Amino acid sequence: MREILVTSALPYANGYIHLGHLVEYIQTDIWVRAMKAQGHQVTYVCADDAHGTAIMLKAEANGVTPEEQIASVKASHEADFSKFLINFDNYHSTHSEENKQFSELIYRRLNDAGHISTKDVEQLFDPEKQLFLADRFVKGTCPECDSPDQYGDNCEVCGTTYDATDLKDPHSTLSNATPVLKTSKHYFFDLPEFEQFLQDWTRSDNRLQTSVANKLQEWFEAGLASWDISRDAPYFGFQIPDTPSDEPDKYFYVWLDAPVGYMASFKNLCDKRAGTDQALDFDRYWAQENEHKTEVYHFIGKDIVYFHALFWPAMLAGSELRTPTGVFAHGFLMVNGEKMSKSRGTFIKAETYAEHLHPEYLRYYFASKLSDKVEDINLDLEDFMQKVNSDLVGKVVNIASRSAGFLVKKYDGMLSEICVESELLEDITKTGDEIAAAYENREFSRAMRLIMQCADKANEYIDAKKPWSLAKLEGTEQEVQDVCSVAINIFRQLMVYLAPVLPELTNNAKAFLNLDDLSFASRNEWLLGHKINKFKPLMQRIEEKDIEAMVEDSKASLAQADAPAATTDSKSAAKNEASAEMNTDDEQTDYIGIEDFAKVEMKVAHVLECNHVEGADKLLQFTLDVGEDKPRNVFSGIRKFYEPEQLTGKKVICVTNLAPRKMKFGVSEGMVLSTGEPKTGLTVVTLPDACVVGDVLA
Ligand code: 2FM
Ligand code: ZN
Repeated sequence: MREILVTSALPYANGYIHLGHLVEYIQTDIWVRAMKAQGHQVTYVCADDAHGTAIMLKAEANGVTPEEQIASVKASHEADFSKFLINFDNYHSTHSEENKQFSELIYRRLNDAGHISTKDVEQLFDPEKQLFLADRFVKGTCPECDSPDQYGDNCEVCGTTYDATDLKDPHSTLSNATPVLKTSKHYFFDLPEFEQFLQDWTRSDNRLQTSVANKLQEWFEAGLASWDISRDAPYFGFQIPDTPSDEPDKYFYVWLDAPVGYMASFKNLCDKRAGTDQALDFDRYWAQENEHKTEVYHFIGKDIVYFHALFWPAMLAGSELRTPTGVFAHGFLMVNGEKMSKSRGTFIKAETYAEHLHPEYLRYYFASKLSDKVEDINLDLEDFMQKVNSDLVGKVVNIASRSAGFLVKKYDGMLSEICVESELLEDITKTGDEIAAAYENREFSRAMRLIMQCADKANEYIDAKKPWSLAKLEGTEQEVQDVCSVAINIFRQLMVYLAPVLPELTNNAKAFLNLDDLSFASRNEWLLGHKINKFKPLMQRIEEKDIEAMVEDSKASLAQADAPAATTDSKSAAKNEASAEMNTDDEQTDYIGIEDFAKVEMKVAHVLECNHVEGADKLLQFTLDVGEDKPRNVFSGIRKFYEPEQLTGKKVICVTNLAPRKMKFGVSEGMVLSTGEPKTGLTVVTLPDACVVGDVLA
């Protein structure tokens, strides 16, 4: 028996749970249930992520204290999770005594080992609100292209990244006041000191998925930077201990104590269970010397890999605690092939969904889409309805409803003493090994495929034997009982296989089948001479009108709702500070249609010249031949990443129908395409020499 601790990312305590969040909780919950069903001792903990400026401001806006704010959000999160059958062993809060103690312990150990330093940081300060402004709370005019109303980190018009202090005419988005520059001392965690450790850690023992390890490699190449772990008062969080008395209050940045919340929630559970037969030993899971006795896994979204695969293991190693056995990242949720959209009603709250549709439908659909890859998954609402109706109602439940009636009516619910199709049943029992392995490897879509293949075999068998016709003939009593008993046995195996995904349905089936166990091992004992109970319908079909009503309700409820948790400042600020965006999840952005995309003209361009721009430390100036009468002049914010001679003579892609932009240094007549992140590194897309200058990309 393995001893395993599992976590899902902690949701922020200032927003509701939506379907995008549920991908992860459902994924983790299925994995935990599957591992428990295979006989392992698994503990699943989570908590609300309760600290940070965004939560403090949200409480202020709601006219409540931060404590009241986080308590009410926690209650609503727990209610939502329970509707979706997410079976946490413990759900705690990062604003807890345990978390304070562990955060302080880790910080003190890091400090004692020399991994913490301080540095003066000059930042914009809101003189009215009396607080330092994170980049997303400042707007002003872009220093490069003079576009107004740009955020403090990068310009959405010209793509230049800058410091908030570079903005012209800045104003605070909180009070509209003009910010002033103010210096304060910040505390830094020395991440670069851990580079070698992290290079080894991220590449060994299959801790990370390959695509994640590759992404990390890029970050190593770009160079790790020290991490700013402090925030000045006012802040909702824990005060940093042992700071000099003459310093204003310093707080741990929310992302310092958030992952510590995993340990804190676990400790809270250990305390609750102390002295019971389910007691858990905290040190067995977190002391460095026990690292190989137990396993710890974090399920997370791809946007927070930086925190979990770099900062967190470095913090743990630096404070002599065990590091995670694995970090499993998943992709984002699309709905109908596009990002969730409030206007289309596809930005769906967990609560709204549950008012219209059974949560197990969604659990099954997500399971049928999820793999061990970091890929986005698509909830296509039409496909969702078809799949659930055809697989679960049409295939699986149908097996029982077609055979139970005969058994209960004619044989008092008794199954035959022997199995007349042992080969078929053995085959399905054996497939259970593959299904169990697929669950363990997080290949849920494969597991669902295998299960449906078993269901198909059962239905083919019933179709071939036609018990309804047999029952009309003389002298076929035994045969009817035998055929229906085979069907019920296969149905039982399917219930075992589906139990991690459909806990409620399979629990009801357990009562119908008169069983007290649906563990994986239980399937090896077939039901012979066993009595079942009267069959009651286990699942209704999804009706189109229920989906339509959910979409309409989502449009209506979100028209007046606040921004969701995932788009709040604390997340985007955190990600920006980590320079870690693998893919930003700005859930309010609508996708464009193909007709919009077709408006963009991109041509093969030859770089005739590439030069530095006097007085602009972010720009390179290109002279591009795009197959027209005269070359074009284009500025691009990539100076940090290239020397001009690296690009001279190359074939690149130029957007040629962008309106010319007047900049301080001249007019830019297009855009050179590059990939990556303006903060961590941009790579200009270059084309093979064989591409013909002026050709349109299509
Ligand atoms: O990205 C988020 O929603 C964070 N609240 C996740 C925190 S996970 C862990 F580190 F606490
Ligand atoms: Zn700009």
